[in-house]
Amino acid sequence: MDIRALDISLPIREALSEILVEVVAGGGSVSFMHPLAIDAAARFWNQSLAAAERGERIVLGLFENEVLAGTVTVLLDCPPNQPHRAEIAKLMVRPSHRGRGYARALLIEAQARAVANDRTLLVLDTATDGGAMGLYESLGFVPAGIIPDYALKPHGGFTGTMIYWKKLGV
Ligand SMILES: CC(C)(COP(=O)(O)OP(=O)(O)OC[C@H]1O[C@@H](n2cnc3c(N)ncnc32)[C@H](O)[C@@H]1OP(=O)(O)O)[C@@H](O)C(=O)NCCC(=O)NCCS
Repeated sequence: MDIRALDISLPIREALSEILVEVVAGGGSVSFMHPLAIDAAARFWNQSLAAAERGERIVLGLFENEVLAGTVTVLLDCPPNQPHRAEIAKLMVRPSHRGRGYARALLIEAQARAVANDRTLLVLDTATDGGAMGLYESLGFVPAGIIPDYALKPHGGFTGTMIYWKKLGV
């Protein structure tokens, strides 16, 4: 298994788009509704990887035998008064590759990348119906609070969101 920053090449965009469609179909709360068209997923990743090329974010990929098994994004493009902050987004592992510690490994690498970019505060939000809260808390993220009915789940119905923060390098 290895983790690296992803480029904007066609095979990478196709693999990321497949993962996003699969994760949304499986009920993952990652901003989209089911069914997600592969073209819409590709548009999202095109924009995200273009932002990565501009240095505004880092899109990490975890590969198993050169197959993309998971991804997480570190958002670095914060307002001028928050140069010390980064945000974690779009943590996803292919359903076929779950339960192997890959999400944990992606988050640990994401934290290292944030530190390497001189960030001392990480924030993220996650669906309260999702099941990822225990993972973030086991990595030291502190729950700030729940916003009820924040988003729709991919198959309908509201879910709340939990906001987390973590100080880095302290
Ligand atoms: C959440 C997700 C990324 C976890 O991926 P994963 O690779 O299976 O997670 P890991 O194997 O690294 O598990 C890490 C820990 O979290 C726990 N965990 C992971 N998913 C869990 C779930 N759905 N319910 C309860 N616990 C879960 C594991 O038990 C494990 O704990 P342990 O280390 O103490 O054994 C994956 O289920 C996913 O892609 N979900 C859909 C998208 C999503 O919800 N992303 C989070 C949005 S913020």
